[in-house]
Amino acid sequence: MGKPKVVLGVSGGIAAYKACELLRRLTESGHEVRVVPTAAALKFVGAPTWAALSGHPVSDEVWSDVYDVPHVRIGQSADLVVVAPATADLLAKAAHGLADDLLTNTLLTARCPVLFAPAMHTEMWEHPATQENVATLRRRGALVIEPAVGRLTGVDTGKGRLPDPGEIFEVCRRVVARGVDEPDLAGRHVVISAGGTREPLDPVRFLGNRSSGKQGYALARTAAARGARVTLLAANAELPDPAGVDVIRVGTAVQLREAVLKAAPEADALVMAAAVADFRPATYAGGKIKKQDGREPEPVALVRNPDILAEISAERARPGQVVVGFAAETDDVLTNGRAKLARKGCDLLVVNEVGERKTFGSEENEALVLGADGSETPVPYGPKEALADTVWDLVVARFG
Ligand code: C5P
Repeated sequence: MGKPKVVLGVSGGIAAYKACELLRRLTESGHEVRVVPTAAALKFVGAPTWAALSGHPVSDEVWSDVYDVPHVRIGQSADLVVVAPATADLLAKAAHGLADDLLTNTLLTARCPVLFAPAMHTEMWEHPATQENVATLRRRGALVIEPAVGRLTGVDTGKGRLPDPGEIFEVCRRVVARGVDEPDLAGRHVVISAGGTREPLDPVRFLGNRSSGKQGYALARTAAARGARVTLLAANAELPDPAGVDVIRVGTAVQLREAVLKAAPEADALVMAAAVADFRPATYAGGKIKKQDGREPEPVALVRNPDILAEISAERARPGQVVVGFAAETDDVLTNGRAKLARKGCDLLVVNEVGERKTFGSEENEALVLGADGSETPVPYGPKEALADTVWDLVVARFG
């Protein structure tokens, strides 16, 4: 099998320089990349840069090498077209089927997955014209990832920033690997919890756990790559924000519960991958607890935290909402898992066997996914994103 063929479309925004990094990541990971900039993009980054980094000639118009019919061939032979950055103007042209340069022609001839990573000022992104164009493109099966919030050109900050090129690359890699044309979570809003809660004891100490957040982040990345609107409730995870994902940071179980309850009414699916502390210190010492000469420390009294998963499973914020829990077990995975599924009342329970090299902090995972309908789906040892994709497959099947 030859290298996957990627067309990198670049339109005319200042973030065009970040596409150089995306291009480098794509070529270094074994993709054959053809860069198709617009004339405006070439004002930001010149053709020699794109040609040198891609190893291919670069043109923005349809009049070079006409005998090769590039305006048709480039799109026809691609396995993925990614436009990063996609300006408001480019999105408008794509939504209306205009074809006045090589990139817009390529978009009309491509029959592979098409991914847009918009970047522009907040006002332009929020304008109804842009929003309607984005909705049109999504309805036709394109993957349009939400811009990030942060520093924009000049002194402005807000929504409209191009996500980190490394994270856009992750989306590209997943779309190419899956080889699926239609994003099957398009139009769905999913809420995922990730990481581990920390329950403060005093200003410098907390009760925590060893969850790294990697499984929850893998769920968020894969959901975004499958077209979902994703809200990630991240509890103390030190990982980069996935592209197109709305990340809300929380600390404690009580804060996580508030964030879950706030997000739940709009969620088609809730996946609770976070490790939530069952107990928290009964009191919080406003100052650091000091050791005292000749005296034993006071015991730490604990109180129970709310069980968020059980609560949202019992009272669904939306009819038909799918709720997924996670459980780490050390032994008798099937019996303990079935009992927990019944106790929590969720639709699916992903049961991990905790052991050496498994689960906490590792890149790999192995699990048994139990369904309230009696189903059992074993997921063999492999990358956390493979488990994430299985979870989404099972969730999609339950959407009906
Ligand atoms: O009961 P246990 O902690 O094993 O259950 C794990 C599942 O329940 C996870 O999905 C976790 O996010 C969720 N959970 C919760 N609230 C708690 C404890 C666990 O939502 N207080």
